[in-house]
Amino acid sequence: MSQILVFLGPPGAGKGTQARVVAKELGIPHISTGDILREAVREKTGLGLAAKAKIDKGELVPDEVICGIAEERLSKPDCVGGAILDGFPRTIAQADFLEGLLQRTGRGKPLVLNIDVATESVLRRLTGRRTCSTCGEIYNIYMNPPRQDGICNKDGGRLIQRADDNEEAIRTRLKAYEEDTSPLIDFYKRRNVLHHVDGSGEPEAITERLLSFVKTHDYL
Ligand code: AP5
Repeated sequence: MSQILVFLGPPGAGKGTQARVVAKELGIPHISTGDILREAVREKTGLGLAAKAKIDKGELVPDEVICGIAEERLSKPDCVGGAILDGFPRTIAQADFLEGLLQRTGRGKPLVLNIDVATESVLRRLTGRRTCSTCGEIYNIYMNPPRQDGICNKDGGRLIQRADDNEEAIRTRLKAYEEDTSPLIDFYKRRNVLHHVDGSGEPEAITERLLSFVKTHDYL
């Protein structure tokens, strides 16, 4: 079985933007726990109804719930050739769980890429984010606007703003990142699997950095 890639970084680092493109390029699934939760909210499943208030406020969903989601998704056959995890793990408990899961399933350690961005740029990235309601393509009204206002370039879908992309929820998400997720940098550094990738500049340049890193580290 091939390795699991983990994209780490604060909200707005560009994890989703990059994971979509890199996963396509490598021919492996992009697994975003945020996307899975938002879909559950849209479909009003039990999970969605239970998680909605936390997501909207920018608080983390409980570890047991998230670990269950990740385990189920990673057990699907399309993950045999590897996968990119975006937004998971984001607590030490989740990272411990993933470590055990990968050991049990004979996959070994993940390759962890931390996307470094300055905190100042994150607010503008998040308040300007718009996402296609049908294909999930990600835009930014300030930095990467669609050709036609509110409409996806790729499939003509309606662009929407995430409920947690308001200043109050963003502050809560950044606090959750500092308190619960940033300790993962040390966690993975101690395991010798952490690599930093500069997340500034044009998205295409960052994709190149990520791909060249993955290729030189013989990921697949
Ligand atoms: P999640 O969906 O994972 O959100 P997040 O971690 O806050 O990350 P974002 O999606 O906001 O940022 P991103 O790094 O993907 O940035 P993007 O590429 O979109 O989680 C949402 C919620 O779900 C959580 O708050 C929590 O409640 C729950 N949850 C999910 N996973 C969980 C877990 N494991 N445990 C507990 N709870 C969990 O880019 C952002 C913007 O910047 C876009 O507009 C984009 O166009 C723009 N941009 C990207 N790159 C560039 C660039 N190079 N230059 C200029 N603009 C750029």
